[in-house]
Amino acid sequence: MNEGASGERSDLKHLESSFLANGLRGIKASNCCLESWLNRTIKGRVMIFFVLYQSDATTDFPSDVDHKILETAYHRNRADQITGYLVRTPNKYYQYLEGPSAKLDALVQDIKSDPRHNDFELLQDGVLAQRRFSSWAMGYHLVSEKDLDEFYGWLHEGEGFGDVMIAYMEQMARRRKGN
Ligand SMILES: Cc1cc2nc3c(=O)[nH]c(=O)nc-3n(C[C@H](O)[C@H](O)[C@H](O)COP(=O)(O)O)c2cc1C
Repeated sequence: MNEGASGERSDLKHLESSFLANGLRGIKASNCCLESWLNRTIKGRVMIFFVLYQSDATTDFPSDVDHKILETAYHRNRADQITGYLVRTPNKYYQYLEGPSAKLDALVQDIKSDPRHNDFELLQDGVLAQRRFSSWAMGYHLVSEKDLDEFYGWLHEGEGFGDVMIAYMEQMARRRKGN
């Protein structure tokens, strides 16, 4: 799944699988009427897309760099109606971003070429019925060295990693909100 964030988005099949992957399993749509079903579903609403990626951090840990990233994100994401969550471990970033297609694509292109990380790898992308992180211009969670084993034990690398990572981020966001 190393396609660019926007490459396949006009493809109805991709949209269908994204809808299904995002919990709308109760809505039946046979192939013959999928297009009109999608049109009804999204009619009159700005479609929200999401991207989940991982990358290798090139900066020290912990460092002021993350603070700078969040500062930029706070301003730009609010202006561009982007919301999301960033997880930082000693070596990696995991970031989930959601928002209107054009703004999201532009941001993802900028993030991809940012020297503060490399080896950008897309884990998931798709379309959403509603935002997952509507109250977060960019949430943030730092996983320290001592918590790494527990973190990766819980996430279990491999099949379904993206879904579990998103669930982890949602849980962290809920915890913070409750504070
Ligand atoms: C891991 C990582 C995550 C980032 N996340 C965001 C983000 O959510 N929003 C944002 O505006 N910039 C983010 N950035 C910074 C962008 O790469 C880029 O520097 C910034 O958006 C430039 O904005 P400007 O062109 O308005 O100066 C991130 C950078 C890194 C390395």
